[in-house]
Amino acid sequence: MRKITKFPFMLHGGDYNPDQWSHVPGTVEEDFRLIKIAGINALSVGIFAWAKLEPEEGKFDFSFLDEIFERAEKAGTAINLATPSGAKPNWLAAKYPEIRRMLCPAGANFLEPVRVGQGARHNHCPSSPVYREKCQIINRKLAERYGKSPALAMWHVSNEYNDGACECELCRGAWREWLRKKYGSLKALNEAWWTAFWAHTFTDWEQIGVTDWSMPAMVLDRRRFNSDLMLDFFLAESAPLREVTPHVPLTVNTMGTYDGLDLWKWAQAVDVCSWDGYPNYHDRPESAAHTAHHFSFCNDLNRSFKNGAPYLLMESSPGPTNWQEYNRLLRPGVHALKSMQAVAHGSDGVCYFQIRKCRGGWEKFHGAVIDHKADTSPRMFREVAQVGADLSRLAPLAGATTPARVAIVFDWENRWILNASAGPSAFAKDYERNVIAHYAQFWKRGIPTDLVNGDHADFSKYDLVIAPTLYMLRAGFAERIEKFVASGGAFLATYLTGIADETDLVYQGGFPGPLKKLLGIWVEETDYLYDDERNTVTLKETQHDVAHICEVIHPEGAETIATFTRDFYAGSPAVTRNKFGAGEAWYVGAAQARDNDSLLHEIYDTIIRARGIVSTLPRTDLPRGVTAQLRENENGKFIFVLNFNNTPVKIDAPEGCELLAGSPLPDLPAYGFAVLRK
Ligand code: GLA
Ligand code: ZN
Repeated sequence: MRKITKFPFMLHGGDYNPDQWSHVPGTVEEDFRLIKIAGINALSVGIFAWAKLEPEEGKFDFSFLDEIFERAEKAGTAINLATPSGAKPNWLAAKYPEIRRMLCPAGANFLEPVRVGQGARHNHCPSSPVYREKCQIINRKLAERYGKSPALAMWHVSNEYNDGACECELCRGAWREWLRKKYGSLKALNEAWWTAFWAHTFTDWEQIGVTDWSMPAMVLDRRRFNSDLMLDFFLAESAPLREVTPHVPLTVNTMGTYDGLDLWKWAQAVDVCSWDGYPNYHDRPESAAHTAHHFSFCNDLNRSFKNGAPYLLMESSPGPTNWQEYNRLLRPGVHALKSMQAVAHGSDGVCYFQIRKCRGGWEKFHGAVIDHKADTSPRMFREVAQVGADLSRLAPLAGATTPARVAIVFDWENRWILNASAGPSAFAKDYERNVIAHYAQFWKRGIPTDLVNGDHADFSKYDLVIAPTLYMLRAGFAERIEKFVASGGAFLATYLTGIADETDLVYQGGFPGPLKKLLGIWVEETDYLYDDERNTVTLKETQHDVAHICEVIHPEGAETIATFTRDFYAGSPAVTRNKFGAGEAWYVGAAQARDNDSLLHEIYDTIIRARGIVSTLPRTDLPRGVTAQLRENENGKFIFVLNFNNTPVKIDAPEGCELLAGSPLPDLPAYGFAVLRK
């Protein structure tokens, strides 16, 4: 069993910023009184406190943290101690202007970079030796001072690292070095980037300057580099923590499917994954289902990053945020529902931004545990206390994991190159959403699902591997997936797969490139429809509207499962299946409108039945907007049933279960949930 901290409970807590309140006597005492009532047992402290901790260069003042640690030790509260690099103090930026990032001004063409002013946060240069050194100094001091505290649960390194994209000379130099290492010679780089196009041939490394949108391979490499450079910064700033406190687990709070960092790589560098999730269940009613899928997807991703290990929802809001398009109130029950949703997928706790609402500044209207009316009466506080009580009953669940037999490939580099290419279409570029369309098929049936990285995943654990829109096929993927299918697995690929290689050079000899043999097809052409246009696909006796993308497919060994009924490709295959060794490889050469999943539904029904893939509940036809999720450990099987509808639903309880939290089945109220133990 893998636990995220040494503490015996599910973490319940959040960002706590008493450094903003040190001029108001009694606040901390009041906070500790209230959080006890709310069942809060974990505090993330010091995240943006650099100006307080080091008010002048080299002069440190840890008094506010000392008090928090003292109180936490007494109360048995876990501390996630942050390093403060997310926001640099004014004195530091004034004395060392080079720590400020340089950015290219937005515009049609790439302009030379300018240095950003001091302010806001998350805008330091990731290369700057001074910034790295200053971070290391303060981080070492934090580690030396608090490393032995029994309250220290984990390191919360920095905050929501972004892609760092800095265009200063130092970062440019590092970028050229990265390229040199990757390609060895300009000749190799020129070929990989296809630079003969528009006379872009580089004859000197120094010519590699501002990222040129007209070279997708350059944009792609730059994104890889940005992610790697920020990772390097993270490794540098955490080095003193590793050295002084090797026993303390370390996390970085990431941002779901944030586009800027390749989180598969990052996950390998931390001990515990954690992420910040703000699902807006009330933004627009019609988007609620997508919100539920997306939030589940991000949670499954965090569990999948480290091969099924529990992770932590490090931030969420107990009430409305202050930054969404509509900061609607969370309807009664929604806070508990989304909290249990995270736990259902593998989070060993629920944490918030933030514990006490600020009086001033950018986030004074953001939901918090302790409101401007700082007592136990606000609804937000009471709902948090309810989650606290639920989590304490779920303690036996800590460390439990999810036995998924279905895996879906989710690949940052693939998303980057789809976005960097001219064409093929806006729909095709929405990679995340296209992946989630497949994910939702399993969500709605209550079938546990992992996300995987095509480069490293162990496919042999799964019955079914799905790779939606895998435009970029890197070396090795085809061989590994062939092996998986040959030994009995099922694989499903879709339109726009196997188009280009690692540096966006298009595969010659027909699509889907290296997967042609496995899929037993040749995709000759891809048709991009107007948004309101439809074709129809016939699958046995059923007809399905398809939209956006239709491909002209020639079977080369595969069996035709469904055909198009209209246009010049009427009668040609839309869906194929190829028997390969002991397994089979499916290809779906058409997309559907966002509000229609009938074709995928029928295809997956067939695969799930044939493969005997089981779901969490005996039934897979759950009411719309309801999911069931599973975790298990030596204490039992834990079944979560979650209702995202604003109306009640009926679900029969599986046999032999006790209710741990939520409402007794069969009656789930609006936004209700049940956690059962078998
Ligand atoms: C992010 C940050 C927090 C806070 C919240 C507000 O997740 O990490 O510091 O700004 O957003 O939602
Ligand atoms: Zn820089």
